[in-house]
Amino acid sequence: MTWREYHEATRHSVESLRRTPHVLDWANMPHPFRHYEGVPVLDLPADPPAPESPASDGATFLSQLLFYSAAISASKVVPSTGFRYALRVNPSSGNLHPTEFHFVTRGLKDWPDGLYHYRPSSHMAEQRALGEFDITGSDAPIVFILTSIAWREEWKYRDRAYRYCLHDVGHAWQALALAAEALGVDSKAIVDFPDDDIAQAIRLHADEWPMLLLEIRGTEGRPDARETVWYGGQANALSMEITPYPRIDAIHAATKRIVNSVVEPAPTGSGEIKLPPVVQSTRSFGQVARARRSALDFVGGPQTISLPQLSALLANAAPLLSFIQLYLYVHRVDGLEPGIYRFWPQHAELQLVRTGDQRVAAAGLSLGQDLAGNACVAFSMIGDLDRAARAYGDRGYRYVHFEAGAIGHRLYLAAEALGLGATGIGAFYDEEVHRYLHVTPEQGQVVYHFAIGYPVADPRRHA
Ligand SMILES: Cc1cc2nc3c(=O)[nH]c(=O)nc-3n(C[C@H](O)[C@H](O)[C@H](O)COP(=O)(O)O)c2cc1C
Repeated sequence: MTWREYHEATRHSVESLRRTPHVLDWANMPHPFRHYEGVPVLDLPADPPAPESPASDGATFLSQLLFYSAAISASKVVPSTGFRYALRVNPSSGNLHPTEFHFVTRGLKDWPDGLYHYRPSSHMAEQRALGEFDITGSDAPIVFILTSIAWREEWKYRDRAYRYCLHDVGHAWQALALAAEALGVDSKAIVDFPDDDIAQAIRLHADEWPMLLLEIRGTEGRPDARETVWYGGQANALSMEITPYPRIDAIHAATKRIVNSVVEPAPTGSGEIKLPPVVQSTRSFGQVARARRSALDFVGGPQTISLPQLSALLANAAPLLSFIQLYLYVHRVDGLEPGIYRFWPQHAELQLVRTGDQRVAAAGLSLGQDLAGNACVAFSMIGDLDRAARAYGDRGYRYVHFEAGAIGHRLYLAAEALGLGATGIGAFYDEEVHRYLHVTPEQGQVVYHFAIGYPVADPRRHA
């Protein structure tokens, strides 16, 4: 299976949705938390200080890093059943959270070198091994290994689930990278690693796949120099039964091969609208990261956002744009005629593609989800999948989706910082989006949708 075969086979169309209706098997819903049973569990101090005051001891520093990137930050209650479920700092399609956070540490103060798995349900670290782990061939004091448990997403989204796993990793990567930045340390993502070697080195359960490594630097200390001691731990079963999805196993296998050729430059262009200077938010990173939520829907009108606010949203996404092109469905932005625009990041310009009210089109293209029409602005992220594949082979398919998720994450936080709400949208009619936006196959394909506006109150929200 090639990336193209997988992508084409998992497009949504009116016909594909009618042909293959799906009933969720609630009794078999995957457990939202992975635990490695039978290992020592180390406390990460609860309610750590804000990231602006980075701690010098390892436990509090790790607590800060995770509290502002991956911890539980709220809960919701289903009114009809009273069932309560957790929400986290990082978003996830269907709140199913396929991404697990593992990390190795080296030379942190008062924290044993070893291999850990983050347990978000209690904000603790499961100690899977003691000793030194060389994951990236560097001396980074912390290296995260972000993994995907595809089954969590497959249970609901079936063959399309691999796309969402990749988006999810992109969100988690940015959640960690931005928390690191707020703590005053650097991070570097590594995506071209030998998957099977890493999986073996940290003894992952077969249902977990390593997807992205993130080195964190700036807290270097002296390693413990101790012998490796393995606790390992027994990974909990997530469901009673697991339905195989051979198409996902096949695309995952295809994307394991590492190719590194020259990356052709991204297209450049210009637009007639020069974006104004951005508005600044006064909220701190810690407040914003912990308050971020997905809007269920947006207030349809008449409140607008300003052009400097839109400018701030786009400026946050711009540094990551490499394989992704942003198309905007502008519904209610002061000083901008409703219509479709393309964003050119090089000079912060918008190019008008078509004028007219886009609310029905944006909602319709997002599988009829009203929120894309009720937002102030919605987005189609067009991924240059061919260019990525020319540079990185099938593995490039992962990278484009990581980038989309990461951009989505920056948009979430930028919106929250401005007092707005946002929602990532993985469901759209692929081919209809291409037709509507006049995107040619050479230019790319839609990989993610997004919406930003004034959120409606959420009756399920608890904390
Ligand atoms: C990749 C991705 C795709 C998503 N797709 C949709 C969608 O199509 N419709 C929707 O209403 N929410 C969508 N969401 C939002 C999730 O439902 C939301 O993140 C999840 O319920 C957790 O809530 P939280 O973001 O408030 O933590 C998506 C989120 C992600 C990360």
